[in-house]
Amino acid sequence: SSPSHLLFISNILFMCLKYLLTTTIPKNIQAYFNKTAHLPCPFTNSQNLSWSELVVFWQNKEKLVLYELYLGKEKSDNVNRKYMGRTSFDWENWTLRLHNVQIKDKGSYQCFIQHKRPTGLVLIYQMSSDLSVLANFSQPEIMPMSNKTENLYINLTCSSTQGYPKPKKMSFWLTTENSTIEYDGVMQKSQDKVTELYNVSISSSLSLPDTTSNKTILCVLETEEPAKMRLFSSPFYIASEDPPHQDNNVWIAAALISVFIPCVLLLLWRCKKKTQHGVSHQSGESVL
Ligand SMILES: *[C@@H]1O[C@H](CO)[C@@H](O)[C@H](O)[C@H]1NC(C)=O
Ligand SMILES: *[C@@H]1O[C@H](CO)[C@@H](O)[C@H](O)[C@H]1NC(C)=O
Ligand SMILES: *[C@@H]1O[C@H](CO)[C@@H](O)[C@H](O)[C@H]1NC(C)=O
Ligand SMILES: *[C@@H]1O[C@H](CO)[C@@H](O)[C@H](O)[C@H]1NC(C)=O
Ligand SMILES: *[C@@H]1O[C@H](CO)[C@@H](O)[C@H](O)[C@H]1NC(C)=O
Ligand SMILES: *[C@@H]1O[C@H](CO)[C@@H](O)[C@H](O)[C@H]1NC(C)=O
Ligand SMILES: *[C@@H]1O[C@H](CO)[C@@H](O)[C@H](O)[C@H]1NC(C)=O
Ligand SMILES: *[C@@H]1O[C@H](CO)[C@@H](O)[C@H](O)[C@H]1NC(C)=O
Ligand SMILES: *[C@@H]1O[C@H](CO)[C@@H](O)[C@H](O)[C@H]1NC(C)=O
Repeated sequence: SSPSHLLFISNILFMCLKYLLTTTIPKNIQAYFNKTAHLPCPFTNSQNLSWSELVVFWQNKEKLVLYELYLGKEKSDNVNRKYMGRTSFDWENWTLRLHNVQIKDKGSYQCFIQHKRPTGLVLIYQMSSDLSVLANFSQPEIMPMSNKTENLYINLTCSSTQGYPKPKKMSFWLTTENSTIEYDGVMQKSQDKVTELYNVSISSSLSLPDTTSNKTILCVLETEEPAKMRLFSSPFYIASEDPPHQDNNVWIAAALISVFIPCVLLLLWRCKKKTQHGVSHQSGESVL
């Protein structure tokens, strides 16, 4: 009788583990703002129960019903107003599609499957999922704060719009021929009251190490989990201040050469002609 006890206990443990795995560990899912979220309910219908004996429904964390499939028919009596017309059920893989996802929609959801038996409805499957909502920030954009150009520094603003969640960091990367310096600014955040999306910007005064090298400035936005990434602006170039003096000398030399050589040649030619004329005159005289 001892082995059968063991088997019984291990069965109970197994059932508990299965229960824990399916009910307390939620599946993490993500959706983009204004797109569709897929809320799963991966029930394996091993008993081949038909739709006409099942009740399938989804609830949010406040127990408001998103969708109900009652004995094979969609039923909207219990569906909360805010989910009306926003859901569709995928019969193939037991997934509920929630359309036009908003930031407010983030949070946990549960799906339930009940079996209609002569004794009443019996819960046969339950699953939780945690929805996080993302919105991609726009490509960061660098704008000079003033048209006045200074040799020693430049004041720049960088902004990015309509993202979620709040980004982690925003900075400028100033690259000269030899090095890259990072400038962190204080990130200004503003949140839209309706959409809850963020606009962010930083303003910094970047000191320029010299005036003789070309410089490239990038603005970098680092976003948080679950969509951790770096977004780069288009490069902002600052050309070297003065063309090197040697270049000026070369231009002056070229100008001098191109003006004076023909002059000298012309003079030489005219002198030669004059002397030739004189010679011929002389010779003419001598001929005469
Ligand atoms: C949501 O998406 C639709 C097109 O699918 C678009 O017309 C609308 O502007 C978007 N809304 C927001 C707030 O981005
Ligand atoms: C499941 O039941 C349906 C009818 O309800 C039947 O057509 C189908 O063959 C059954 N499938 C299995 C694997 O038993
Ligand atoms: C269910 O199927 C649809 C396509 O029919 C797919 O887009 C979706 O990712 C699937 N969901 C799951 C959880 O497998
Ligand atoms: C957001 O950015 C990621 C990574 O670049 C991309 O895969 C995804 O399609 C973008 N989503 C939207 C809705 O633009
Ligand atoms: C810079 O000058 C342009 C036109 O010359 C003007 O439109 C723009 O507003 C100026 N920007 C700033 C920051 O002063
Ligand atoms: C740049 O910013 C600094 C301080 O942040 C300020 O003192 C300076 O006047 C600004 N320069 C220009 C050209 O706007
Ligand atoms: C860059 O490096 C070169 C040699 O590697 C050096 O001659 C030059 O002065 C450096 N420029 C700056 C701005 O540090
Ligand atoms: C965020 O930026 C967008 C696009 O530039 C603008 O339409 C919106 O009003 C801004 N929202 C906030 C809260 O600043
Ligand atoms: C700066 O860039 C220009 C064009 O991109 C190039 O002609 C020039 O030689 C560069 N100057 C220096 C100091 O690297």
